Amino acid sequence: MTRQNQPTPSANSHTFYLVKRLMREYLAPHKGRLFMAIICMILVAVCTALTAKMIQPILDELLINRNEALFFIVPAIVVLIFFIKGVAGYFQNYLMEYIGQRMIADLQTDLYKHVIHHDLAVLQKQTVSGLTSRFIYDLHQLKKALSNTITGVLKDVPMILGLIVLMVHQNWMLALVCLTIIPLAAAPIVYFGRRMRRYSGGTQEEMGALGGILRESLGHIRQVKSFTTENREIDRSSRSIHAVFKLLVKMARVRALSSPVMELLGGLIIAGVIMFGCHLIWQNQMTAGEFMSFLTAAMSIYRPLKSVTSINNSLQEGLAAAERTFTLMDQPATITEQAGAKELKVKNGEINFNNVTFAYADGHTATQNLNLHIPAGKKVALVGASGAGKSTILNLIPRFYDPKDGHIEIDGQKIADVTLNSLRQNIGLVTQEVALFNDTIANNIAYGSPLASREQIEQAAKDAAAYDFIIQSENGFDTVVGEDGFSLSGGQRQRIAIARAMLKNAPILLLDEATSSLDTQSEKSIQDALNTLMRGRTSLIVAHRLSTTQDADIIHVLDHGQVVETGTHKELLEKDGVYANLYKMQQQS
Ligand SMILES: Nc1ncnc2c1ncn2[C@@H]1O[C@H](COP(=O)(O)OP(=O)(O)OP(=O)(O)O)[C@@H](O)[C@H]1O
Ligand SMILES: [Mg+2]
Repeated sequence: MTRQNQPTPSANSHTFYLVKRLMREYLAPHKGRLFMAIICMILVAVCTALTAKMIQPILDELLINRNEALFFIVPAIVVLIFFIKGVAGYFQNYLMEYIGQRMIADLQTDLYKHVIHHDLAVLQKQTVSGLTSRFIYDLHQLKKALSNTITGVLKDVPMILGLIVLMVHQNWMLALVCLTIIPLAAAPIVYFGRRMRRYSGGTQEEMGALGGILRESLGHIRQVKSFTTENREIDRSSRSIHAVFKLLVKMARVRALSSPVMELLGGLIIAGVIMFGCHLIWQNQMTAGEFMSFLTAAMSIYRPLKSVTSINNSLQEGLAAAERTFTLMDQPATITEQAGAKELKVKNGEINFNNVTFAYADGHTATQNLNLHIPAGKKVALVGASGAGKSTILNLIPRFYDPKDGHIEIDGQKIADVTLNSLRQNIGLVTQEVALFNDTIANNIAYGSPLASREQIEQAAKDAAAYDFIIQSENGFDTVVGEDGFSLSGGQRQRIAIARAMLKNAPILLLDEATSSLDTQSEKSIQDALNTLMRGRTSLIVAHRLSTTQDADIIHVLDHGQVVETGTHKELLEKDGVYANLYKMQQQS
């Protein structure tokens, strides 16, 4: 499945384009099953028409003419027809459901693959709930639409055709009366479909918003309670719940409205058949059996016809969902590898920033023409006030963001020219916000190193001064930490993150406030461990507590994205500039 073609947004909204794309990329792989399903559907359609056809011999031959020769044959044929219809119906339902579910599963997988590889900057602009609702709500809509449409088109349409053939065969004039009424059904179908598509888009957005509110308020439940803002949160969520409710009711009304319209049309068809049919029988142009068989066909056509009208509604809902899915899927990532990118080879781990200019998507320029030299194997510290750009600089190294201008080199290789995997595998990153998965402590430590042995995991925990608290917890290394590690203290979480970086054993270390949640005692023991870890590696560390960084080989002092002072702790104190001031202030407090 390729996704090379980049459609224009206008092409994107065309029903035809969407249907074609869904068919080409997601339906085509299931050609074999689809073919089988079509055969089954044709069988069902033929059997349905034959059932109506059988009314004629039953009435004319068995009931009126009392033809005893057919006494066993007709019921036997009826049983056979129903048997074939039943078996074909089973396979058709099963195969269609299979194809529909498979298409959705494939779409979800493709969308997920796309999203997880996407730029951080783009993903951060979307809410997690908005994205989640794409996967859950949108694709659920699409699933419903696909099943209904494929089944509808392949089952109901052949059935309608089969019945029409029978009707024309029985009496073409009577059939003509019916068929003139059927096109009248088209107008409401189109009208309802349009409204459905509009409401569906709104519903998806509202559901995403509701998800966001729930996630936020329940996720920050401690804040909510401490500020006693429960009622405000209830208000906020009620408003959103009500908005979703209103849209869903509107959709239900449109969906339900198709029903009376179709009932009325059905009534008109049957009335026409009765009036015209009686006329024909009275003139002896038709037998009672032929008429009843025709009437049965006309009545049988009503159900598939009605479901064809609902197909359009759910198809429109589904297409609205498909459109949003494809729009997201077609958004190209900008942080990508070049074709034929080489592996990064880290020999010493020297990092150079050459005239790097970087601005966030909102236009905020975080660094301008920054030149920074981080010698191989040294411990380099970035210090400076909050908002000076320290984290930003760190984030540029694993290419979480790309500079607007200039470039960054590791051992003389531009990071934009090497593969993303080799770049990121060579970097160990520990940040202040520790991300833990709802898994065991051991698995959390081994998150980036799935092949690590238990001994290695335990050693990493010891090095990160995490071993003691881990073995004291209920199940030791097999303790499940809960969502975001809520069962652990901030310092414990940070130590797990450090153990994780230790296990990764990368030649370049980026530590962004890695020890900020630790008390002085643990910080000291971890600092010793980190010092061991940093030996022989290039480390770039950010810390507000200058005591953590004063033994660095080089300290860069940042202000507004610019290096304003550089030197060792001693040299900078002697300089008596920005750093010396910062240091004095911290000493006093
Ligand atoms: N995702 C973002 N989008 C837009 N602007 C951002 C983003 N992240 C950071 N900034 C801005 O870039 C500047 C530098 O931020 P950065 O996070 O690098 O500061 P910092 O030195 O790490 O500060 P702190 O010590 O508080 O962590 C700040 O002015 C900040 O507002
Ligand atoms: Mg920061």
